[in-house]
Amino acid sequence: MPYMQANLLLTCIVSILRLLDPVLATRDDLHYVNPLIGSTSGGNVFAGASLPYGLAKPVADVDGQNTGGFSTDGSNVTGFSHMHDSGTGGNPSMGQFPLFPQYCPDNVVDNCKFLKSARAVHYVNDSVTARPGYFALELENGIRAEMTASRRAALYRFTFPESKTLDGEALNPLIGVDLTDLWDSRQNASISIDSDSGRIKGNGTFLPSFGAGSYQTYFCADFVGATVRDGGIWVNNRAGSEPKELFVTRGFNNFYLQAGGYMSFDRPDDGVVTVRVGVSFISSDQACSNAEAEISNPVNDFERLQSIAEDAWKEKLSPIKVTSGGASDDILSAFWSGIYRTMLSPQDMTGENPLWESDEPYFDSFYCLWDAFRAQHPFLTILDPKAQSRMVRSLLDTFKHEGWLPDCRMSLCKGWTQGGSNADVVITDAFVKNLTGIDWELAYKAMVNDAENEPLEWSYEGRGGLQSWKRLHYIPYLDFDYLGFGTNSRSISRTVEYAYNDHGVSVLGKGLGKQEYTTYLSRSNNWKNLFKSDQKSLLENGTDTGFTGFFQPKYLNGTWGFQDPIACSALASWCSLTSNPSETFESSIWEYQFYVPHDMASLIELLGGSDSFVSRLDYFHESGLADISNEPVFLTVYEYHYAGRPALSAERAHSYIPRTFNASDNGLPGNDDSGAMGSFLAWSMMGLFPNPGQNVYLIIPPFFEAIDVTHPETNQTATVRNVNFDPTYKNIYIQSAKLNGQAYTKNWIGHEFFTQGMTLELTLGDQESDWGTSKEDLPPSLSDSLVQNEMQRA
Ligand SMILES: *[C@@H]1O[C@H](CO)[C@@H](O)[C@H](O)[C@H]1NC(C)=O
Ligand SMILES: *[C@@H]1O[C@H](CO)[C@@H](O)[C@H](O)[C@H]1NC(C)=O
Ligand SMILES: *[C@@H]1O[C@H](CO)[C@@H](O)[C@H](O)[C@H]1NC(C)=O
Ligand SMILES: *[C@@H]1O[C@H](CO)[C@@H](O)[C@H](O)[C@H]1NC(C)=O
Ligand SMILES: *[C@@H]1O[C@H](CO)[C@@H](O)[C@H](O)[C@H]1NC(C)=O
Ligand SMILES: *[C@@H]1O[C@H](CO)[C@@H](O)[C@H](O)[C@H]1NC(C)=O
Ligand SMILES: *[C@@H]1O[C@H](CO)[C@@H](O)[C@H](O)[C@H]1NC(C)=O
Ligand SMILES: *[C@@H]1O[C@H](CO)[C@@H](O)[C@H](O)[C@H]1NC(C)=O
Ligand SMILES: *[C@@H]1O[C@H](CO)[C@@H](O)[C@H](O)[C@H]1NC(C)=O
Repeated sequence: MPYMQANLLLTCIVSILRLLDPVLATRDDLHYVNPLIGSTSGGNVFAGASLPYGLAKPVADVDGQNTGGFSTDGSNVTGFSHMHDSGTGGNPSMGQFPLFPQYCPDNVVDNCKFLKSARAVHYVNDSVTARPGYFALELENGIRAEMTASRRAALYRFTFPESKTLDGEALNPLIGVDLTDLWDSRQNASISIDSDSGRIKGNGTFLPSFGAGSYQTYFCADFVGATVRDGGIWVNNRAGSEPKELFVTRGFNNFYLQAGGYMSFDRPDDGVVTVRVGVSFISSDQACSNAEAEISNPVNDFERLQSIAEDAWKEKLSPIKVTSGGASDDILSAFWSGIYRTMLSPQDMTGENPLWESDEPYFDSFYCLWDAFRAQHPFLTILDPKAQSRMVRSLLDTFKHEGWLPDCRMSLCKGWTQGGSNADVVITDAFVKNLTGIDWELAYKAMVNDAENEPLEWSYEGRGGLQSWKRLHYIPYLDFDYLGFGTNSRSISRTVEYAYNDHGVSVLGKGLGKQEYTTYLSRSNNWKNLFKSDQKSLLENGTDTGFTGFFQPKYLNGTWGFQDPIACSALASWCSLTSNPSETFESSIWEYQFYVPHDMASLIELLGGSDSFVSRLDYFHESGLADISNEPVFLTVYEYHYAGRPALSAERAHSYIPRTFNASDNGLPGNDDSGAMGSFLAWSMMGLFPNPGQNVYLIIPPFFEAIDVTHPETNQTATVRNVNFDPTYKNIYIQSAKLNGQAYTKNWIGHEFFTQGMTLELTLGDQESDWGTSKEDLPPSLSDSLVQNEMQRA
């Protein structure tokens, strides 16, 4: 309690200082970060303590929406564990070896509650404190838990209230360790207890939450600051101080035995028991040495670690400065928190990869690239290009040692592929933005491998249906594919994604002077082969939506199949890999109809020209067909730019923000997906939206008066400044623009804006203007450049 009050006082003082000092207000943006945004209603964010890209991620685990460990959904705490993913769908991820502090009635160990469901306890609602590098709450039984993290170790401080048995004897704090994870996927595990030194070590084999195979993980927990009375093991709901070692496995009938270890203590005067937990994917000894190296003095290191974490986050956020111009604290909080979440995952596991030896960096939790390629990796490219370059190197090193680029990867395992081979887009984006330190020849080899070679298991690597892709130039409905195995569905969404992936191969190939780039350039047109120009779309009550021309599935023999264009949208039914597999993945034909990122000009022409395209896009967003809770929708918010109506992109962004993205605990419309949603929000509020894999950012007015982004490598500062900024967002229409003082009419800008530190000044008004609407002001499309090339040749 005193600790909290002191903190509260400090927060008040700092807030008052901020009001008085505008410089301070812009200097420390960390206080806007609220890790609880998206902690309920399916956001699944990790709300606990972590360093940027940190492996150790301690938080309270609950028995409700616990995909990321904790949730503010009112469910109960089952323990405190040390590793998590953030924002993911799939099964709850990691959460191994949770600690659970308690008192055993009458000091009888068997009276303690060991089983997960029995020990679950609610927390005092307003006791939850979450900020970068720190998480704390008070359990309803009065035990307070605080945690912070270094890169590969978690540090916990449990404060036990003074408590006595009926006979007046002091109760002895007990802390249990459970050989489990969040979704009880443990296959087998071992634990050993050393009550003399106060150390518990262990390991276990677990299943990845959205992938294949299994993985082993290790921990090393040191209990300090209190005299150990006793230590032992528990099995089911019985415990004993002998033996000191235990091995549990799954019987042949898959029976799950709950088991673990515990340590009990004399309650120290201040009630505090500190636990340092090192984690590793190599060995328990490495878990111990990680902990010892990073947290040398656990009893006294808590505040030091916390401030190291805060400084690390401040440093990561430091390239961006906002002049709010009266934008609300909620807007600022949503913005900074979104940025914060882009750096929770992928996790830097360099030095913790048991699968191969390499000097290259190793990142894990690309969960999944299908989500993250669209906005998150482009965001890291401006905020932390060094880290983004290391992530690309890690993807390439994974290709080198496992034979394939991942599309999704978690806990050292291959994750399920949802659409195309979208690491291709991440690499292409890095190439067109000149990231350094990447072996581009290796990158090209990896991408050509995706494009040319079908793996046996294309459910978790590469692409399926490549024979048809090369011969027929589309992925057929019910393909005859005997080369590899994957869910034989999603022919439409795979066709449009493969086409864009091949566009990436052509861009890199051309950049490297490869003759065969033209092969991939022509394959990037394959999306056209599934366009059925007379296809109509009716609503469920039979009303015609009034639009003609949609993608449709096509059989091997060239005959059209049929999928209702509204199927797999909110107006019809949900479609995933396992539930209701369809020709479009997790979204409708309506939504995938807009996915031609490299050739929007051709798409718009095919859909009847700009006006018709704009009404179709409006209908999509206003009818409930658009699924704002999932990543394929991102680019559609901004595609008005390609039809010469950038003002409508701004309107559309404001229609979703803050209505569906905001600073509440439920402030995300869907899974954050490792920060994918966070990056959508951040780009939108910055007023620049990337078309990933291309040197293009689409311009709308930032949600603030001005924003500065200093490139961490060139040190040049790029600025977007709104003139006539209005924090009530009536003036969201660009009337005119100046780039470095010169009139600028294009509705997009390239990455040079960031690397060279340009200044873009946008003059706003409350009506759509003709700024950025002329043909020559539109972002580039493949067909434009083909036309231009032909003109040059003629
Ligand atoms: C705590 O919050 C949960 C979820 O919001 C609610 O169900 C519960 O009633 C609250 N408890 C108290 C004591 O306010
Ligand atoms: C949470 O734990 C409390 C006891 O702390 C119990 O009364 C309640 O039923 C539990 N809630 C759920 C959802 O299990
Ligand atoms: C633990 O489980 C894994 C996966 O089921 C298995 O491969 C491994 O051999 C087991 N280890 C032991 C020691 O039983
Ligand atoms: C796990 O721990 C047990 C007990 O400490 C040990 O015997 C075993 O070798 C460890 N397993 C692995 C894979 O390191
Ligand atoms: C990348 O480097 C090339 C060659 O130096 C340069 O022409 C181009 O403008 C750079 N692109 C970006 C986005 O900085
Ligand atoms: C069909 O549904 C749409 C959308 O809900 C509605 O606008 C329209 O009026 C309905 N038409 C009929 C004939 O019920
Ligand atoms: C093409 O194949 C589909 C599915 O097998 C079949 O329904 C259709 O009749 C075939 N079309 C022709 C022209 O043979
Ligand atoms: C915040 O966003 C959530 C999720 O999209 C939404 O349900 C909620 O209504 C929004 N809240 C506000 C105040 O707009
Ligand atoms: C950018 O600034 C850093 C830190 O001051 C310095 O080390 C680096 O050399 C600078 N880079 C350039 C390109 O000026």
